[in-house]
Amino acid sequence: MGFLQEIQRRRTFAIISHPDAGKTTLTEKLLLFGGAIHVAGAVKSNKIKKTATSDFMEIEKQRGISVATSVMGFEYKDHKVNILDTPGHQDFAEDTFRTLTAVDSVIIVVDAAKGVENQTRKLMEVCRMRKTPVMVFINKMDRPSKDPFDLLEEVEDELQINVRPLSWPIGNGPSFQGVYNIFEQNLNLFEANKQTVQEAIAINDIKDPELENIIGKAPAELVRDELELMDGVFPAFDNTKYLKGELAPVFFGSALNNFGVNELLNCFIQIAPSPQPSVTKTRTIEPSEEKFSGFVFKIHANMDPNHRNRIAFVKICSGKFERNKSYLHVRQGKNYKFSSPTAFMAEKKSIIDEAYPGDIVGLPDSGNFIIGDTITEGEKISFKGLPSFSPELFRYIENADPMKTKQLNKGIDQLMDEGVAQLFTSQFNGRKIIGTVGALQFEVIEYRLNHEYNAKCRYEPINLYKACWIRSKNAAELADFKLRKTQYMAKDKQGRDVFLADSSYMLQLAQQNFKDIEFHFTSEF
Ligand code: G4P
Repeated sequence: MGFLQEIQRRRTFAIISHPDAGKTTLTEKLLLFGGAIHVAGAVKSNKIKKTATSDFMEIEKQRGISVATSVMGFEYKDHKVNILDTPGHQDFAEDTFRTLTAVDSVIIVVDAAKGVENQTRKLMEVCRMRKTPVMVFINKMDRPSKDPFDLLEEVEDELQINVRPLSWPIGNGPSFQGVYNIFEQNLNLFEANKQTVQEAIAINDIKDPELENIIGKAPAELVRDELELMDGVFPAFDNTKYLKGELAPVFFGSALNNFGVNELLNCFIQIAPSPQPSVTKTRTIEPSEEKFSGFVFKIHANMDPNHRNRIAFVKICSGKFERNKSYLHVRQGKNYKFSSPTAFMAEKKSIIDEAYPGDIVGLPDSGNFIIGDTITEGEKISFKGLPSFSPELFRYIENADPMKTKQLNKGIDQLMDEGVAQLFTSQFNGRKIIGTVGALQFEVIEYRLNHEYNAKCRYEPINLYKACWIRSKNAAELADFKLRKTQYMAKDKQGRDVFLADSSYMLQLAQQNFKDIEFHFTSEF
C-alpha cells in the first residue's frame, strides 16, 4: 500500500465523557467489532476506578496496565483505527487535554438519562478551541431516558455545537424498540443481548407500511412524526461542517447491549477525518510530507521502581517513522535512534519497524523527553498546542528526609516532565510550589516519590487563586510589576515568569493597574 493510502485510511480519535456515561463500555464494544479483543470485560478491568475518595494505590496498580490501553489500534474494513484512551477521573483532566492534542476527531458519550454533564462540557471547550470534529453517541437508551428532542437541544446549548441526528430512537427504557438509522436508511431492532449484532432491516422509506407490522401502529406513527419534526428543526447533515467542528452528527444506542455501536463505527470510518495538518511555531506540517516529524504528548513511567525507564508516546505528524533511523530531538539538539519502538494493538504491545501519520508509537526513554518535545528528520521545528493550564490547587513541597535531597529533586523533576503536575519556584523565598488540577495528584506525587525515588516529601499550605504567565513589550512596566509584586513572583520549570495571584480581586487589580502586561492562563501564547 502506498504512503498516501496509509495516511488516508487512518482514523485517530478519543472517546470523551463524564465518568459513568459509558466511555469504557463503548471503547470495548468498538474493539470487539475490530476483532481486537474477543471477550467483553478486557478493557473494563483495566479501568482506573472512579472512586470519590482518593484511591491512589489502586491507580498505581492500574497505571502499569493502562500503558497497554493508552492507545488501542485495530483494523476495521480497510481502515486503521487508533483509539486514544483518556482517564475518566477528573483529577487527570490535564492528561485528557493533552491527549486531545493528538487526535483528529472525538466521540462524545452522553448518558441518555442524565444528559450533558460537567466534565463533558469542559472537554468540549478544548475540542471547540481546536475545532476538532465531534460525533455524539447518546448511550443507555435501554434505560428510561430524556426525550430525544430535549437531549439534542441540551447538547446544542451545553456543548455549543449544532447537531444533526443520523439515527433516531424508537421509545426508550422498557419501551425501547430500536433505532431508525437515518444515515443508512434501515431499521435496527433492539434486543437486550450483550454480544452479537442483529441484521438491520432495510426500510428505505419511513412511510413503508412494513414499519407498522414490525414495531406496531402507535410507535410507527410516533417515529414518523418525530422524524418529520426533526427534519424541520435540524439542517441536513453537512460533512464539511462536521469536519470544521461546527456540526456534530448524533447516534442513539446502548453500548452495554452492543446496540447502535456498529452503526456508529461504520459511519465514523466513512466521515471522520484522516490525519490532519499540525501547526508548529514556524509553519504548518502536512501529514503527506515525506520527512518524518512527531511530538510527545504523554509520558508513562515504568511501574517497576528498579527500572526507571519510561515510555514517551509520540504522535506521528508527517512522514514515515522507521525503527533504528536517526532522528533529531529538537529541544536537545541531539540525534537518537530508537531500536524498540512499540505500537499498541488492543491489549498487546509489539515492536514495530515503521509507522505512519496518525499512528502513536511508544519510545522507551530514560529521561530525555518531556511533554511537548518534537522529533524530526532534521528540521528544527516545534509543534504547538501542548500548553500547561493554570493549576487550581497549590501547595509548598518540602523535603521530609534531608539525607535524600538529591533523590527528591530528581523525582520532582521527572514527575513534572511527565506532566503529573507543575512546579513553580517562588522568586521571593526560593520555595518550591506544586500546582495541580486535582487533589489526587498530591497523593500520587508523594506516593511515587517514596516508591520510585526513595524520597520523602511533605506539603505545606499556600493560599493561591491562580498562576498566570506574564509577558510585556513594555520592559519598564514589567520590571516595575515584578518589583512591586516580588512576593507573588515565581518561575515555571522553563524559567518563564509566573504571577501567583492569591485572589481573583488581586488579579483583577493587577490587570487594571498594569495595562501593558499580558496575563495568560495557559503557558502557550
Ligand atoms: P465510563 O467509562 O464513562 O466511566 O463508563 P462505563 O463504561 O464504566 O459505564 C458506567 C456504567 O454504566 C457501568 O455500570 C456500565 O455497565 C453501565 N453502562 C454502560 N453502557 C450502558 C448502557 O447502554 N445501558 C445500561 N443500562 N448501562 C450501561 P457499572 O454498574 O458502574 O459497572 P459494571 O458493574 O457494569 O461493570
